Amino acid sequence: MEKILNLAASLLAMGVAAFPAEANEMVEKGAYLTAAAGCQACHTDPKEKQAFAGGRPLKTPFGIFYSPNITPDSKSGIGNWTEEEFIKAVKQGISPEGSHYFPAFPYTSYAKMTDQDAKAIFAYLRSLSPIERENRDHEIVAPFSWRWLQTGWKLLFFDDKTPAPLADKKLDRGRYLVDALGHCGECHTPRNSLGGLDQSRYLAGMAGGGEGELVSNITPDPKTGIGDWSTGDMVSFLETGMKPDFDDVQGSMEEVISHGTSKLTKEDREAMAEYLRSITPIENKISR
Ligand code: HEC
Ligand code: HEC
Repeated sequence: MEKILNLAASLLAMGVAAFPAEANEMVEKGAYLTAAAGCQACHTDPKEKQAFAGGRPLKTPFGIFYSPNITPDSKSGIGNWTEEEFIKAVKQGISPEGSHYFPAFPYTSYAKMTDQDAKAIFAYLRSLSPIERENRDHEIVAPFSWRWLQTGWKLLFFDDKTPAPLADKKLDRGRYLVDALGHCGECHTPRNSLGGLDQSRYLAGMAGGGEGELVSNITPDPKTGIGDWSTGDMVSFLETGMKPDFDDVQGSMEEVISHGTSKLTKEDREAMAEYLRSITPIENKISR
């Protein structure tokens, strides 16, 4: 019952007089997109396992961030948010109070998400049961803890221009899944000293990415990347975490697969695989 009330409230918030069938469809679509975008892994404390209630520590060179509660609880979560506020947070990194989020929240990638998809994700989150769980303050040091500094950071690194569509529909879908939803570059593209992504080395991997891990070069470079992976190899890796050499996936990539890419359709995994094989190979050997 609570779920239904929530759904009704979220539909009101969305300002649509949708029929239940349409609303359900939107929630289902949102669930799929939420998986593709990997929201759950970051917004769930692995110890408490209360999905989307936040509290997961994210270790970065700038300190520890704790993800907030994004269940529809009106006190501690985003229960009072409007759809507009949600889109602004996810796609522009701006809170309802007008302050800037830290880019530990990968809104820099989500900026390329369509409004329609962001709305569906909102509908899905609103359909969940609210969980009361207070947010925890980040443990980061000045000057990185100064939210207003994010304005300058954004001027330097925030690019929300939607790229021109690729002529091949499948590759275009693949790029959307990799860049806008899957935010693969947030871990696989090297960062400069200010934490901005170095797009000239797109997906070429880095040491100390993700949560301080060795993040692989996933460009099709034959020596240092994954030039020897077939589309089929990549499709099954994104489904099962098994590599062509029968190694199991490690670290944060395991979550990307278990909460994300394993839940997608085969067509979408294929689109991602084909897109990754089409990008510029970059020679970059990853080591400590
Ligand atoms: C890599 C980890 C990560 C991923 C993935 C992620 N988030 Fe977050 N999110 C964060 C962090 C950290 C913050 C807090 C940022 C801050 O305080 O400046 C945040 C903040 C938010 C906020 C603001 C909440 C508030 O109370 O102000 C919303 C809404 C949100 N995320 C939704 C999402 C959605 C929806 C997705 C998937 C499309 C997502 N997040 C994916 C880490 C993540
Ligand atoms: C939270 C950080 C993070 C995100 C986001 C992420 N990855 Fe990874 N990825 C890693 C790490 C760490 C490894 C190394 C783990 C391993 O090799 O077992 C890795 C390994 C891989 C590998 C294996 C490469 C090899 O040579 O063994 C592939 C392929 C891959 N990622 C693809 C992707 C794709 C596609 C996406 C976007 C959907 C993505 N990753 C998003 C952290 C991430």
